[in-house]
Amino acid sequence: MIHVTAVLVLLISAFIFVVVTGMLVYVVVKFRRPENDDGNEPPQIYGSTNIELAWTVIPILITVVLVLVTSRTIGEIQNMKMPEDALKVRIVGHQWWWEVHYPDLGIITANEIHVPISDRDAAKATPTHLTLQAADVMHSFWVPQLAGKTDLIPNKDNESWIDPYETGVYFGNCAEYCGTQHANMLLRVIVHTKEGFEKWVANQKAEPAAPSTPEEIEGHRLFFANSCVNCHKVSDSVAVGVFGPDLSKLMTRQTIGAGVAPLNGETLWSWVRDPQVLKPGCFMPDMKLHDKEVDAVVAYLETLK
Ligand code: CUA
Repeated sequence: MIHVTAVLVLLISAFIFVVVTGMLVYVVVKFRRPENDDGNEPPQIYGSTNIELAWTVIPILITVVLVLVTSRTIGEIQNMKMPEDALKVRIVGHQWWWEVHYPDLGIITANEIHVPISDRDAAKATPTHLTLQAADVMHSFWVPQLAGKTDLIPNKDNESWIDPYETGVYFGNCAEYCGTQHANMLLRVIVHTKEGFEKWVANQKAEPAAPSTPEEIEGHRLFFANSCVNCHKVSDSVAVGVFGPDLSKLMTRQTIGAGVAPLNGETLWSWVRDPQVLKPGCFMPDMKLHDKEVDAVVAYLETLK
């Protein structure tokens, strides 16, 4: 819609540009100073009702056309109705990470929004409707390739939607200064094929395998014996904290610390040892675990996939 309007405006402006520049060049060439110029002032002519009418009425008509076309496009966009079955995602901005809920699917994750590919054909489109909220200060949701910026404001629900036509990973970040680690509040939108999205949903809903090796079991014990559970949630357990990201499917994510580093055994180890190393100022404290304990907690966390 915006594209069609933009092309129309460009064509009209290009036409005016060509006419004006053409006339200017013509006049400059045609009326340049002749060799036999006698230095006298040329005859001065004032007023021409026809020409004055032309340069008043034509621009008014052009402007009216542009105003009408633009208002229609704005109206179409404002009045667009979400399809009833649009995927609903609720996003909560935190200092400095993104909480991502799929209320209809019962999935909670963080820093990654997985959605199915949509279609240019409105009848087959599967857009994703986003409700944007903030838990502490103002943040701003910005994935430049998919949608304009929309602020996340405490005590106010904002809305946006995305409708991607190509699969892939789209990068975004917080676009409203929100404190020390604002720059490391990154997010990714991962657009799947329809089947790929179904698979992702099925995996997110599946319970992870119970810890089995002695190290994993020890890590599980340590995780639940320390205050990890006050801030983090692990599905089907007493860990129901909501201050930090839900860890139920931690290892399915691509990054740690809202994009501060790729998620792998090494970065996870460093994070559990002391989060302040990778992300200074973040609200997860150094739990002062010994290396052996960190090994165990990491082994347990790695079962969450
Ligand atoms: Cu959140 Cu900047």
